[in-house]
Amino acid sequence: MLIESQTQPDNSSSSSSRSRLAGLPEAAVDEIFALNHAYATDTHPDKVSLGIGVYRTPDGKPWPLPSVQKVEEELLHENDPFRHEYLPIEGDQVFLDLARDLMFGFKHDKALETPAEKEAKRRIASVQTISGTGANHVGAVFLAQHLKPKHVWISSPSWPNHQTIWDLQGVPRKSYPYFDAATRSFDFEGTMRTLEAEAEEGDVIVLHACAHNPTGIDPTKEQWKAIADLCQRKGLFPFFDSAYQGFASGSVDEDAWAVRYFFNLEPRMEMCVAQSFSKNFGLYGQRVGAFHLVTNGETDQQLVAKNLCHIIRGEYSMAPRAGSTIVKRILGDEQLRAAWQRDLDVMSSRIKKMRRALYDELVRLKTPGNWEHIINQNGMFSYTGLTLRQVLALREQYHIYLLKSGRASISGLSDNNVAYVAKAIDDVVRTWGIIGIIVI
Ligand code: LMR
Repeated sequence: MLIESQTQPDNSSSSSSRSRLAGLPEAAVDEIFALNHAYATDTHPDKVSLGIGVYRTPDGKPWPLPSVQKVEEELLHENDPFRHEYLPIEGDQVFLDLARDLMFGFKHDKALETPAEKEAKRRIASVQTISGTGANHVGAVFLAQHLKPKHVWISSPSWPNHQTIWDLQGVPRKSYPYFDAATRSFDFEGTMRTLEAEAEEGDVIVLHACAHNPTGIDPTKEQWKAIADLCQRKGLFPFFDSAYQGFASGSVDEDAWAVRYFFNLEPRMEMCVAQSFSKNFGLYGQRVGAFHLVTNGETDQQLVAKNLCHIIRGEYSMAPRAGSTIVKRILGDEQLRAAWQRDLDVMSSRIKKMRRALYDELVRLKTPGNWEHIINQNGMFSYTGLTLRQVLALREQYHIYLLKSGRASISGLSDNNVAYVAKAIDDVVRTWGIIGIIVI
């Protein structure tokens, strides 16, 4: 009897309240991935995913890039016994050099390297990361520890993960007004006014290198110059997030223009770049990325790299090997690189074509409102201007999935579904009133 009573589960409240996890707070669900899951489990035959930013073919299918497939075949054939070995903590050095050269515009051929280029490369400490999120994270940890900024400035709106990444480091967050809903353009005046008045020396400012996520609107070159000047004058630390190099415009140089402009400024600025290879190589799940910390030349590059490695080792030891091996092969081989450029052309031009197709269809339907922003925006996303109510109606009635802010991933459109999507937008706009943009 005694034994029986001892084995009875104790359901008294005093026992259950003993859990030290009792006060666990609610954690925000990631909207982008939750939406992707909802789409995946939707069984409706006409469903359309305009949520997560992944490239799709004209048939709505994933597209392993032909240049990537070529390397995968080579690797399979080679059957290298070292392919599952550990990488160094900083990552694969050949990959890192190629990633850096792509970002900053250095010629990769060592024989062509000028003394100025050699000197410029000495300013950059690079480590391999778990794609763009990992690069943003490693950068945030490093800067929170060593720069100790009073604030991090994030555009309003921005990729929601920027907020999460910096909140996790406990750095107080402020926002600069990026989007002018009235003109549907970059709020250059508001950005400059806010930063001029409120940003403090040593603050970090997160900048989207190109194809701003979610608005698809980038500063002009003149505006970039003014932002760089402001960063220099006020001693702000620019933190570029580069997730779409070559994917946005088709040109790796054009999409890196802002980063290279800041990098080449005199007097030299300290800055950093989080570089993702998810979109431009279609290697989403492979997690290929790099983080580049740029010094003004006074701080020892090796010392910076050692500090970055210290963080990486304590957190996850090193980035994965398989995807970076593919990127390394492609960037390091002239023919494969040319094939990759053709892949970039295919992806960037299809997205532009789909923007045009959606716009033309809305015009043909005489959908109330002005839709020119769809063709004027750049990169993977369109900030459609659809309201929350319209977004929810699209999901519930038409099985078309986009973010609550009205952000639509244009690559989810195809010749097969663009008429259906335009008609659905036309319906919800006629039912719920003309578009207006809410910044979430
Ligand atoms: C997106 O914004 O949809 C993509 O960059 C995917 C992600 O990681 O959020």
